[in-house]
Amino acid sequence: MKNWETNQDFRDTLHVKACPINRCNPEKCNGSIMQPPNMMRDPRDPKPSMDSIKELAKDFINQYFTSMKRNDSEAHSSRLAEVLASISSTGTYELTKNELIFGAKTAWRNAPRCVGRIQWNKLHVFDCRKVTSTREMFDAICVHLKYATNKGNIRSCITFFPPRNDVKTEFRVWNSQLIRYACYRQEDGSLVGDPANLELTELCMRLGWKGKGGRFDLLPLLLQANGEDPELYELPANLVLEVKLRHPEQDWLEQMNLKWYAVPAVSNILLDIGGVEFPAVPFNGWFMGTEIGRDLVDTSRYNMILPMAEAMGLNTKKTSSLWKDKAILELNLAILHSFQSDNVTIMDHHVATESFMKHFANEVKLRGGCPGDWVWLVPPVSGSATPVFHQEILNYTLNPSCLYQPDPWQYYKWKDTVMVKRKNKLHFKELAKSVMVTSRMMKKAMANRIKTTILYATETGKSYAYSLILQEIFNHAFDAKVVAMDQYDICNLEYESMLLVVTSTFGNGDPPENGEVQTMLRLFYDVNNQPNMAASAKNYINILNYRKPRKRGVLRRRFQSQLDVSRDFDSVSQGLLANVKFAVFGLGSRAYPHFCAFAHAVDTLLGELEGERVKEIGEGDEMCGQEECFRNWAQQVFKAACDTFCLQEEVNLEDANASLKSTKFDKSNFRVTVSDVQVEPNYVETLSKMHRKKLSPCRLIRRKNLQSEKSGRSTILIQLEKKNSDVLNFQPGDHLGIYPRNDPALVKALISKIRDATDDSTVVRLEVQDEKKTFIGNFKYWDADTRLPSCTLTMAFSRFLDITTPPTPQLLKLFSECNVNEEQSTALRILGQGESEYEDWKFSNNPNLVEVLNEFPSTQVDASLLLKQLPLLQARYYSISSSPDVYPGEIHCTVSVVTYHTRGGDGPLHHGVCSSYLNSITDEEEVPCFVRMAPTFHLPTKEDAPCILVGPGTGIAPFRSFWQHRISQIQKGDRTMALLFGCRNPQQDHLYKDEVETAMKQGAISHAYTAFSREEGKPKQYVQDVIMNDISEFVFDLIHTRNGHFYVCGDVTMAAEVHRTLKDVLCINGGMTPEQVEEYITAMKSEDRYHEDIFGVTLRTYEVNRSLRLKGKEKKLSMK
Ligand SMILES: Cc1cc2nc3c(=O)[nH]c(=O)nc-3n(C[C@H](O)[C@H](O)[C@H](O)COP(=O)(O)OP(=O)(O)OC[C@H]3O[C@@H](n4cnc5c(N)ncnc54)[C@H](O)[C@@H]3O)c2cc1C
Ligand SMILES: NC(=O)c1ccc[n+]([C@@H]2O[C@H](COP(=O)([O-])OP(=O)(O)OC[C@H]3O[C@@H](n4cnc5c(N)ncnc54)[C@H](OP(=O)(O)O)[C@@H]3O)[C@@H](O)[C@H]2O)c1
Ligand SMILES: Cc1cc2nc3c(=O)[nH]c(=O)nc-3n(C[C@H](O)[C@H](O)[C@H](O)COP(=O)(O)O)c2cc1C
Repeated sequence: MKNWETNQDFRDTLHVKACPINRCNPEKCNGSIMQPPNMMRDPRDPKPSMDSIKELAKDFINQYFTSMKRNDSEAHSSRLAEVLASISSTGTYELTKNELIFGAKTAWRNAPRCVGRIQWNKLHVFDCRKVTSTREMFDAICVHLKYATNKGNIRSCITFFPPRNDVKTEFRVWNSQLIRYACYRQEDGSLVGDPANLELTELCMRLGWKGKGGRFDLLPLLLQANGEDPELYELPANLVLEVKLRHPEQDWLEQMNLKWYAVPAVSNILLDIGGVEFPAVPFNGWFMGTEIGRDLVDTSRYNMILPMAEAMGLNTKKTSSLWKDKAILELNLAILHSFQSDNVTIMDHHVATESFMKHFANEVKLRGGCPGDWVWLVPPVSGSATPVFHQEILNYTLNPSCLYQPDPWQYYKWKDTVMVKRKNKLHFKELAKSVMVTSRMMKKAMANRIKTTILYATETGKSYAYSLILQEIFNHAFDAKVVAMDQYDICNLEYESMLLVVTSTFGNGDPPENGEVQTMLRLFYDVNNQPNMAASAKNYINILNYRKPRKRGVLRRRFQSQLDVSRDFDSVSQGLLANVKFAVFGLGSRAYPHFCAFAHAVDTLLGELEGERVKEIGEGDEMCGQEECFRNWAQQVFKAACDTFCLQEEVNLEDANASLKSTKFDKSNFRVTVSDVQVEPNYVETLSKMHRKKLSPCRLIRRKNLQSEKSGRSTILIQLEKKNSDVLNFQPGDHLGIYPRNDPALVKALISKIRDATDDSTVVRLEVQDEKKTFIGNFKYWDADTRLPSCTLTMAFSRFLDITTPPTPQLLKLFSECNVNEEQSTALRILGQGESEYEDWKFSNNPNLVEVLNEFPSTQVDASLLLKQLPLLQARYYSISSSPDVYPGEIHCTVSVVTYHTRGGDGPLHHGVCSSYLNSITDEEEVPCFVRMAPTFHLPTKEDAPCILVGPGTGIAPFRSFWQHRISQIQKGDRTMALLFGCRNPQQDHLYKDEVETAMKQGAISHAYTAFSREEGKPKQYVQDVIMNDISEFVFDLIHTRNGHFYVCGDVTMAAEVHRTLKDVLCINGGMTPEQVEEYITAMKSEDRYHEDIFGVTLRTYEVNRSLRLKGKEKKLSMK
């Protein structure tokens, strides 16, 4: 295929996949035939054979799975088998929703006559295959038109009505386009209106429609459902956007009172998707100006060319004055001007054809060709001035395909032969109703159709709770479901309409536990198109880098909800998510340098994949106003989504926003009953199910306090024995997750405050009341709640529920409702608003549940309320402190026992749940454990790479596993492993002093440095001071000259300060500029040489939190 303008050529290889029926033959070319047989599907023709349907189906299913890079997968073969079996038994098969969307887009992509195909991936699909009546068809069409029109910012969409079974049960839209102007034959034989629609107009009038006799009267819709006689529906005028035509400089056109509609929605084309035929599939793109121009000037249409030329004062006597050309040109100019002035999407034929050429080139690259009908693609004016004119193009038909079908009145056999009279009466009642109910129906219809997926990734459960709140508000207008990121099949992503992501960030800018691997890796795989992205280590770093827009690639942050009529007609690379609207909310804490980094990574990535961001990313800082920020964002994103889907009029925003504040707990629907079976469940198995994690029990072998007796604090070495040696496999650097048990004294105190508490040994269960609808009426019944098992209250509050984290505002609001003292109830209600009063109270007191009930003693709390509302007790992580090679069958942890007084030291004494539990367990108790891989914190794969390990206090924990590992490997050679430890005082808390000395003697540790912060008579020294003042050159040499690895573990502030110090070391010793150092560290991260293991805010928790809160409050004030 040669391009005669550029002299470039290529060989089309795609046509070998074309359907065998050819429009031309060796004797003649049928290139200009309007409806050639190969593009025609007539229901009167014999049905395609089963074998040919199977062939088409097979090919389509293969295309679909290939598009997802899942061809030859198990899912592929089982779907294929299912489809073929269905065709064998029923003659057809049902497309899944995703197949339908893929098929619709591909049919557009394959349509040889369409010049606007660059947009093929950006088609919104309304799946209305379940409609049964014309009434439902009409509602669906109203939704379609409203969505497509979008106040002038036209969007491509398609509505699928049921596929063809046989002609007797057919669904069809009899109009050729959803919006068409009527045509009336006058007594003198002349025509008023659009002659293209004469036949349909006369048919509508025979059925009782009375047109007004004007030139631009909207025709009613004539809809046919299930093979029944078609019925008329007047189009509600408010759904039809029209543009009055005027010329930018001359006034003759305005006086002619011409107008045209904005949305070209073709409704008589049939779609064949893999052998399934859809005869009723209205779809629309937007106009190219010359199409309207032809509608107005063609002699078989409005035939306006002469009156226009006369109005323009042109010499119409001789053709060589080119009066026709001049009139057409001015009209086309006027059409573009009028649409653009009214902010209604339109393309001129130059932009359209240029964009087509880009699409063409892209398709040749991607598919080896692009079918095209030259006769149709070259615009009706200025053909040779457009690039398509010069391009040789092959024309062929690919499946899925868009096909012509005969007008239904040519073959339809009326059932009601006296319909004209009868319909007259029926018809007007029907019309009136349809206009009246449109708005009410619209909301229902939209809500049924626009699915919203809320993906969450969480570590401690907040993102999940927020997702449920978001679902609540979205269900006012959408059909929203909540899915955990690691449970989500990423293949669905490109088929989403509205995607909301709520995620926290963990580690140091990493995804939370259930946000990682699966989903993100698949996404990165798709974006970078690299086959083996399974090594998650690299990807975390990539994710961080995603926070910055990348130079390469197609980062295009488009805000398409803003009106832009000259928008992306020429965007070649339609991204994977071109049709997905999305918004992201991040939960995080400004205590961490990478605030909400994972949420930003997801947001950037979805944008890069060309998703349409309906709202800017929201951020909630745990330290200040997280919940408030979320609620504000939720309101805004809901409104933005309603605007995007044109639901503004149908939704009561106030009602929806109010749902954000409601507590949604109806006490009468919950009760606690004594269980039939009085046996407690195994808590390890129950926790496994509850958290969807494989847990294994361990037992304590030994516990040792690593601090001296002189120290008032405890850091303990816990040696656990695996119950089964095959499980809990790990590498040095990985974490052990432990599900703790709450303090028995606290549990007892809590149970004593519950009004209807059962005794210690009674197994109870929480029940929920539900309602069942049956044909003899509705009845209510009680069913077991699925979250908790039947167990004693003691077990529920000890093992399963979190009773120490300060209660959420929602729970406080519920407490206020069951508090019998007015003053306390008011105070609880104020706290329950979750605003600054709540946050100040929470940060200062950090109250556990018992303390809250003590502070508000008139709260009459029932067991059911707590069992239903309390969050689940979460696991704690510990960096594993042993090597499996040295201690097979065992796992060791170094645990700092957390104790502190609230209110900066003035409040009551609190004990950390898990560290205190580990400090108290006996060797009889089963400890529920799992291993969390930390691939970014493993020892270098190149075993002789030098390492420097920085770990003050408990931060030394993982390094013990490192030196043990090196001990087991020692005979393999001499290596540099430098340890830098910090503590208060060599006499009190020099953890593992003896072990380190032994490891040095054995050659596992080459250098050991210490920083003492509270040594009598000596200045305070932190690990970063030692790096800067004592070992700066050594660190530089090890990192830079010897390509070494840098590890830091422990508190987040310490890690940030150490990070800064390393940069200074590189600046000073390497003569690098700050920018070069930034790049250097980024490179170290992507080369996997900079490793962080962050415990959170552990050092000076109260002070750090207080100062961050003050900063957050100031920021909030300054923003107000
Ligand atoms: C990846 C990772 C690895 C870890 N490795 C280790 C390890 O090897 N060793 C280790 O000891 N820990 C480690 N931790 C920390 C550990 O997971 C727990 O957070 C820690 O043991 C405390 O848990 P807890 O249940 O005892 O305390 P919790 O009951 O969870 O109480 C801790 C909470 O109490 C509050 N608090 C604490 N101190 C104060 C204070 N002074 N003032 C006010 N409020 C305060 C804070 O809200 C804090 O979040 C690690 C954490 C992570 C994320
Ligand atoms: N989730 C949690 O809340 C949690 C988890 C684990 C541990 N903790 C708490 O952490 C404390 C024990 O921790 P630990 O034994 O690991 O450490 P630690 O003994 O408190 O501190 C270790 C050393 O680090 C120093 N240090 C303090 N701030 C530093 C900074 N910004 N940069 C570098 N060094 C710094 C300390 O100095 P100075 O103190 O002398 O300034 C000390 O010398 C306990 O109080 C425990 O309760 C809390
Ligand atoms: C160990 C740890 C590491 C964290 N790392 C980050 C971080 O790098 N960036 C951030 O913004 N927030 C960080 N956070 C804060 C959490 O994102 C925040 O607590 C969030 O509200 C948790 O929400 P979730 O319950 O949905 O997981 C961290 C919290 C912990 C405990």
